[in-house]
Amino acid sequence: MPDKFITLTPELHSYVVEHGARQDEALRRLAAETEELGDIAIMQIAPEQGAFMTLLVRAMGARRALELGTFTGYSAICIARGLAEGGTVITCDLNGDWTQVAKRYFDEAGVADRVDLRLGPALDTIRELPADEPFDFAFVDADKTEYPDYYEECLRLLRPGGLMMLDNVLRSGQVLDADNDDPRTLATREVNDRAITDERVEVAMLGVADGITLALKR
Ligand code: DHB
Ligand code: MG
Repeated sequence: MPDKFITLTPELHSYVVEHGARQDEALRRLAAETEELGDIAIMQIAPEQGAFMTLLVRAMGARRALELGTFTGYSAICIARGLAEGGTVITCDLNGDWTQVAKRYFDEAGVADRVDLRLGPALDTIRELPADEPFDFAFVDADKTEYPDYYEECLRLLRPGGLMMLDNVLRSGQVLDADNDDPRTLATREVNDRAITDERVEVAMLGVADGITLALKR
């Protein structure tokens, strides 16, 4: 049987971005400014993932979204742009410097009125959110060691039919490396093993970007 996946080259990835993601000036400028931060820029989502998020959020008719891990704001903008009229995204991050950049671009992208930024540990923030104001969509992208806890809290906070997207579920392939016992890898394996056997959700893992899991709450 032929391989059912393709290993992207940088050139093929550029082709995907050029044909699969409509990045406007605000997103392009944000990506460029984030690149200037150096190696940490790897934490920014890929453009095709951003386009996918906008599309998913729009297709669901989502009005209430949650994001764990704002970083410099690219994914929050993509979520915000998919929201239905009057919608909001609550986005959490610990880092005041990154979120200062994010705030500037929320303005530039015209979504500042749809983004509710909460500075602090994501787990503290979401544990205080009431379950009687459920979310349609949740993007999990903060501290990898806390993914199993994020997963449970997001399941609590999603409406039935609500969708969770988990970022970095392949950790650059480290999930497969038996010698890798980094706590972030262990937590990622734990959540991956849990999701696929979890009767509370429909699940699909995609080999896009650094691996994305979609878990739809039943
Ligand atoms: C890292 C975190 C991310 O969310 C990501 O998408 C890529 C890398 C990191 O912590 O290295
Ligand atoms: Mg990520």
